[in-house]
Amino acid sequence: MAAVSALTAATVALVGLAAPAHAADPVLRDLAAAKGIYYGTAVTSSKLSGTYGAVTGAQFDSITPANEMKWGTVEPNRGSFNWAGADRVVDFAEANGQQVRGHTLVWHSQMPNWLANGSFSNTELRTIMTDHVTTEVTRYKGRIDHWDVVNEPLNEDGTMRGSKFYNQLGESYIADAFRAARAADPAAKLYINDYNTDGTGPKSNGMYSLVQRLKAQGVPIDGVGFQGHLILGQVPATLQANLQRFADLGVEVAITELDIRMTLPATDAKLAQQKTEFKAVTNACLAVARCEGVTVWGFTDSDSWIPDVFPGEGAATPYDAGFQPKPAYYGIAEALGWTGDGGGGDPTPTTGCAVTYAVQSQWNTGFTANVTVRNTGTSPVNGWTLRWTWPSGQSVTQAWNATVTQSGAQATAVNAAHNAAIAPGGSATFGFNGAWSGGNTAPGAFTLNGAACAVALS
Ligand code: G3I
Repeated sequence: MAAVSALTAATVALVGLAAPAHAADPVLRDLAAAKGIYYGTAVTSSKLSGTYGAVTGAQFDSITPANEMKWGTVEPNRGSFNWAGADRVVDFAEANGQQVRGHTLVWHSQMPNWLANGSFSNTELRTIMTDHVTTEVTRYKGRIDHWDVVNEPLNEDGTMRGSKFYNQLGESYIADAFRAARAADPAAKLYINDYNTDGTGPKSNGMYSLVQRLKAQGVPIDGVGFQGHLILGQVPATLQANLQRFADLGVEVAITELDIRMTLPATDAKLAQQKTEFKAVTNACLAVARCEGVTVWGFTDSDSWIPDVFPGEGAATPYDAGFQPKPAYYGIAEALGWTGDGGGGDPTPTTGCAVTYAVQSQWNTGFTANVTVRNTGTSPVNGWTLRWTWPSGQSVTQAWNATVTQSGAQATAVNAAHNAAIAPGGSATFGFNGAWSGGNTAPGAFTLNGAACAVALS
């Protein structure tokens, strides 16, 4: 096919992203995959673009919508559904080769008013609940890997929480919710999920007994989620043993909402301790064969629920509010086997990258593009992986000077042997042929070894 337009390669102004990149930083999703677990984050759907989207896609291989799949969001008025935010999260995950944890189907909190304040007979309430489970799970059938079917069913003393569902229907509401979810998507792993069950104690014992009862009744439960909303200096020493005793019941386990909050201001000493504790929690999961993965409840301090709910506390996540990796991030990476620079928790921000993306020629179904990766830092890059997400359905068909693969809309370019090393100030260039239809919008964000790069389009 003849080229119909040769676009000039005049570079437009550099668009700097907010986050200076640390090109030598490890990629949590790759390290986790090599260890046989996933590493996930809760996300806010409206933020999934720019640097937030780039880091989410580059670093994590599972995402959980923090609010978008809750009953109050998806069915604010009875029979009237709002799937926009949930759809955005699932679409983003598929474009970035990520799993989704669906959160959550039946919960005493964030219910719509019509449900929370409505009066229903027991039979009607049971049908409302199972219909809701069926509708939501069916909508995303085949696209959700894990569902938090029932969330936070317990009191602190391990007895059943007096929710609307429990008060009217008794404990059988849990079995009914799981059975409806299994019928709607037999492939999804079905979890029960709670907080303050991370270490052994009365609440964890209550969960243990509940799971035993559900298993004895043949309820289709696959896993137990431990939220992991922890406090600096108070990570339970029994975490690993506790995960193991649940695994021994014949269920999988996961840390589903990890954050470790501290009293502000964050000091170097507190951040160093937090690093040790993120590492310990990750290690606890790795030590339990049936622990499937860890999800942090927001990866950046600018997307954390903590300051809203615990005034004076915060800094609970692995990235600061400016998308800089904190020592905690390196603690996670170390637990996952990373041994690179920065492991001391005090990385020197002397690395950075800028990407120039240039379409050289384009014809009715295809195009040729060149990509130049520049090391704008002062430390050498030794081996690189560049990731981006296609905005309009493009795909790479053939590449040179790099190996390019694609999963969904996410493209991954890995250096060739001859251009693996990029000296400070130096650059590496590769090219490819791609296919497009409908539109050929340039990618808006790139990550180099998991860190966001400044972007220039030409
Ligand atoms: O969207 C509205 C916005 O329009 C309004 O201006 C603003 C004013 O307060 O509120 C916004 O909604 C907030 C919502 O988060 C989205 O940001 C709600 O007030 C707020 O209550 C809600 O908090 C969520 C919380 O669950 C509710 O209990 C947090 O984001 C979410 O992270 C948190 O997640 C829970 C898990 O689902 C279960 N485990 C505990 C965890 C932490 O509480």
